[in-house]
Amino acid sequence: MCGIIGFTGYLDAKEVLLEGLAALEYRGYDSAGIACCVKEENPIKIIKSVGKVSELRNIVPASLDSGCGIGHTRWATHGGVTVPNAHPHHAGRVTLIHNGIIENYHELAGELAKTGRTPVSQTDTEIAAMLIDSLYEGDACDAIKKASERLDGAYAFCILFADQPDVIYCIRKGSPLVICNTEEGSVVASDMVALLRYSKEYFVLPESQIAKLTKNAVTVTDLDGEPVMPQMLSVNWDMSAAQKNGYKHYMLKEIHEQPEAVLRTVTPRIKKQGELLIPNFSEDGIPDELFLSADRVIIAACGTAMHAGLVGRILMERLLRIPVAVEVASEFRYEDPIINEHTLVITVSQSGETADTLAAVRLSREKGAKTLSIVNVKGSSIARESDYVLYTHAGPEIAVASTKAYTAQLAAFYLIAFRFAYAKGTLSAQDCSAYMKSLSDIPKAIEDTLLSKDITKELSKRLTPSHDLFFIGRGLDYALSCEASIKLKEISYIHSEAYAAGELKHGTLSLVTTGVPVVALATQPDVFAKMISNVKEVCARGAFVILITTPQNAPLVDRSVADVLISLPETESEFTPFTAAVILQLIAYYTSSYRGLDVDQPRNLAKSVTVE
Ligand code: G6P
Repeated sequence: MCGIIGFTGYLDAKEVLLEGLAALEYRGYDSAGIACCVKEENPIKIIKSVGKVSELRNIVPASLDSGCGIGHTRWATHGGVTVPNAHPHHAGRVTLIHNGIIENYHELAGELAKTGRTPVSQTDTEIAAMLIDSLYEGDACDAIKKASERLDGAYAFCILFADQPDVIYCIRKGSPLVICNTEEGSVVASDMVALLRYSKEYFVLPESQIAKLTKNAVTVTDLDGEPVMPQMLSVNWDMSAAQKNGYKHYMLKEIHEQPEAVLRTVTPRIKKQGELLIPNFSEDGIPDELFLSADRVIIAACGTAMHAGLVGRILMERLLRIPVAVEVASEFRYEDPIINEHTLVITVSQSGETADTLAAVRLSREKGAKTLSIVNVKGSSIARESDYVLYTHAGPEIAVASTKAYTAQLAAFYLIAFRFAYAKGTLSAQDCSAYMKSLSDIPKAIEDTLLSKDITKELSKRLTPSHDLFFIGRGLDYALSCEASIKLKEISYIHSEAYAAGELKHGTLSLVTTGVPVVALATQPDVFAKMISNVKEVCARGAFVILITTPQNAPLVDRSVADVLISLPETESEFTPFTAAVILQLIAYYTSSYRGLDVDQPRNLAKSVTVE
């Protein structure tokens, strides 16, 4: 949510900033701006525009000669989408960019007004710039420290001081910032994808510490001025992992990367024990005790990650026989949840930076619960603050609509459920091994599913003019319906709802009329007959029925109830969420694409939600 980049060094700063902003655009794309140090009368030149980074590029003069600057791509929180509200913001000697929300900005604005300072924008960020400027007496770190003592909320700032050309100061609380230094200069960004062009080695700026970036070095100090040595991290993917590589959209590329994403997440964690295959987390440092000592599990996450948790809940309850609840992280934190040292809280997050999920980790730890997080981004806040972390290895996910991160999160839940059921004795070693064999076969099953692309393309043409669409299922299929529904609505702008199939007739069935598409997931053998009854109910109301099922169940389907029948590749029934997810993602993708929409950057959304 809002992308930040800063550079000082020996390259053309405007190019570094514009390329960095393009890489970070998935974090917000309603307006963008840069500020560069130039050797003119007014030493800092600010250029901003409404719209995408490409529009900003059009107005940045080729003659802008600078080796230091900061850039921002915005997802509006305070104040509409206008040029004055776009970042960077300027006050006196301070120019800054911000990701986060300053919660007490109104009160601060009142105080600053008394000293004659009036903002020109409607943003919380400009107030922060004014505050820092009001505290600046030549010592940047001192002004930043004093400002941080006054600011409530979340922030990542990159700050330029007019009298310190070519130096960038940074501080963060709650919002991410990663930094690297190379022979070409020093770079700071919200996400590693923007640094990758310069280095695979980086560090995450620790919270409430100040980084000073100069052309040749980066120094970090705590708020008392004591030097800090941040922990260096590295990524094992390169630029191509964050590019489209011939695909029309990132989303389509990421859908196709799912076999690899699942393989990379699963393979290092399945170990041979004699002839048997058993999941093992010794290299992740996750002890069996974590589950054996838990009498309850709570899964807290947002969006698609929360939907992965819905599948995880069913698996864990079935296999471990302990209560598992799934909570929306933004609700969980304000519900005064009943958790204690016997509760295991599992958080799930692709970015590892979602503000509400991070708050769930913090709250759980405060209350004495153990925390395990399933995270994709190495060194992210949620990973660092959890007691234990199980990394998914999906690689960088750029499209706002999550695909490969979701299936990698599912894989993580399958490993967890099987390992701990085995450790607990509720699953025999033989059965566990058989399941692991099935899980190892999933990447191939996903590849086979991708071969059905043409069916989904055809179907999507039929769905393109729809106004409403319903997804129904039971058990695992219901969990998957929730994900299918969000996927479709977020990128195609077609209203959709996921319903537990048996619940339809308690209200929503009244919306099912002639021609309304209903996607029915019927992959689970234990509820198959019940599902078909529900499908008949929508069929009787004239719905256009798309039935997704397994090769085992397909022959049992009375073809008169399905306008379109999609049979998934053969897997054990416990594993159909992987293959069904791919079909549902493709339907969402093609529907959005045929509607001519911006698949990767849907309106009003951003990939990384670092504000509450
Ligand atoms: C946003 C993204 C979703 C994602 C959710 C949670 O809404 O658009 O794709 O599922 O945030 O993000 P996280 O990084 O915590 O998985």
